[in-house]
Amino acid sequence: MKVLVIGATGGVGGRLVEMLVEAGHEVTGTWHSDGDDVELQRQGVTPRFADLTQMGADDFGDLVQFTDAVVFSAGAGGAGMDLATAIDGDAPIALVQAMEAQGVARLVLVSVFPEAGRDQEPSDGFEHYMAQKKRADVAVCASGLDWVLIRPGTLQDDDGDGRVNAGRCISYGDVARGNVARAIHGVLERPELSQEIIELTDGDTDVDAALDDLVR
Ligand SMILES: NC(=O)c1ccc[n+]([C@@H]2O[C@H](COP(=O)([O-])OP(=O)(O)OC[C@H]3O[C@@H](n4cnc5c(N)ncnc54)[C@H](OP(=O)(O)O)[C@@H]3O)[C@@H](O)[C@H]2O)c1
Repeated sequence: MKVLVIGATGGVGGRLVEMLVEAGHEVTGTWHSDGDDVELQRQGVTPRFADLTQMGADDFGDLVQFTDAVVFSAGAGGAGMDLATAIDGDAPIALVQAMEAQGVARLVLVSVFPEAGRDQEPSDGFEHYMAQKKRADVAVCASGLDWVLIRPGTLQDDDGDGRVNAGRCISYGDVARGNVARAIHGVLERPELSQEIIELTDGDTDVDAALDDLVR
């Protein structure tokens, strides 16, 4: 499968592209920080430059052409409200428009649990980030695409052990970035999972078994 990973240099995206290459997929990944194109090439990924703050639907159209599936795992990562608007909100919305125009249907978008941050003092920046994630989710769910939203709990920067809790509505918790990558990989290899929202934390079930349980 030809897979485009947007955010291929991130904590989730970097682990995902390694898994996809190892499984034999043809992987293209976006980069925007100096030197990351070289690192992607080293991983066996075809690098494509993308500054998500500068891209409209036409730019995404060029990027998604000739791919079978797209994963969006980029994020502004708390770098400010303007960047959250551009990267977590506007970019996936433009991507959806581009995919519809190009006839590329399969999209896995990394979103966020609605419960994220509920145990912290509210802040305008975090509320804004959550609103941008929701804007993107709404656009994806309203599209005619073959989409899956992954809603991870609080991301932990480790590879995880491949054991998760995955469901349409589960309790909140932490999740290893490696387990999120495994789940995205598993979703891409299960076309039956479509127009689906999957909440994901670390847990006790092997990720493949957890995803098989979700196939209707
Ligand atoms: N943190 C959490 O607890 C949490 C919880 C639930 C969901 N999420 C979501 O999970 C997803 C993956 O998170 P992560 O921790 O793997 O993210 P990450 O490590 O911060 O990676 C973000 C990716 O986005 C790219 N990016 C940032 N700004 C960009 C720009 N202007 N143009 C192009 N690319 C840009 C980064 O590239 P560079 O490396 O070059 O900057 C990187 O590849 C994100 O959508 C995040 O919002 C996070």
